[in-house]
Amino acid sequence: MSNLADLEQRALAELASCQDESALRTWHGKYLGKQGEVVAAVKEVVNVPPEQRRAYGSEANRIKVSLTEAYEAALAKIKQLALEASLSADALDVTMPGRAMSSGNLHVASRVMRDVRAVFADLGFQVYRSREVEDDLTNFELLNMPPHHPARDMWDTFHTTIPGVLLRTHTSPGQIHVMREHCPAPIRVILPGMCYRYENITTRSEIMFHQVEGLAIGERVTMADLKGTIVAFARRMFGEERQVRIRSSYFPFTEPSIEVDMDCIVCAGKGCGLCKRSGWLEIMGAGMVHPVVLKNGGYSPDQFTGFAFGMGLERIIMLIYAIDDIRQFWANDLRFLRQF
Ligand code: PHE
Repeated sequence: MSNLADLEQRALAELASCQDESALRTWHGKYLGKQGEVVAAVKEVVNVPPEQRRAYGSEANRIKVSLTEAYEAALAKIKQLALEASLSADALDVTMPGRAMSSGNLHVASRVMRDVRAVFADLGFQVYRSREVEDDLTNFELLNMPPHHPARDMWDTFHTTIPGVLLRTHTSPGQIHVMREHCPAPIRVILPGMCYRYENITTRSEIMFHQVEGLAIGERVTMADLKGTIVAFARRMFGEERQVRIRSSYFPFTEPSIEVDMDCIVCAGKGCGLCKRSGWLEIMGAGMVHPVVLKNGGYSPDQFTGFAFGMGLERIIMLIYAIDDIRQFWANDLRFLRQF
């Protein structure tokens, strides 16, 4: 019996000194395992004198149950401590700053397009979006270029496999759509968008690029309105000191037609590398809407007049940022794109 009391004392003392789960399991093997001391002590009952057996057996069983309970409690406690330790070791600090997302930026063409739109919005122009896939009729014929008209050579065209359906070579066909939609109301819109030309790609020309078309139609719209609009645009976009000059030109859908130059933003007319020593930069083609085009849009040329212009956005961006290769715009090179 004293052996049993001694066994219980030893077992409890050792259990108390176990620091981790593996020590506990070793302890369990030593006392409660199949070969363990407690099991052996229980079996020992056969060697106990008969008059003491009953007391011995019940005491041995009590010790077995009590040590088992003590073991389970100790195991639960150690697991709990281990869990708490690991939680506080790799604690989630919700106040820590998150991983920074790499932020993109607008493509330079989109940004400058927004600037252009803002300037024209101030001048009272609405934005009208027109389709990029056009028919031959609207891209050419209704713009006063019948089939086989030599002026069609000004635009090398991407045709689709559907006869008469093509990628627009300029934003001018949008003039027809907006006129037919609004006739006989006066019109003051810009039509920004992508155009496509079947051309050799060089540092100066791409197969796709943005244009901003402008169209104003009313009962007394004159060439002076056209010039005033262009000057106002150039000054807001490029600086109040800008000078603008116009040269006569030819487009089938305007009459008279002009080409618009602005004094060089680098040398202000003195002559430099950007303006090729001329002092002037070409910014757009323009003119008074041709009577045939007015008629095709539903307006009577006897009552209405209008002006139109078209500028290449990338060319203008190249001027602003001194970009010397138009291919950069669609080359998808982040080293270029991240600069803006
Ligand atoms: N559509 C012409 C071009 O692509 C530009 C233009 C537009 C000229 C409107 C006059 C009037 O070159």
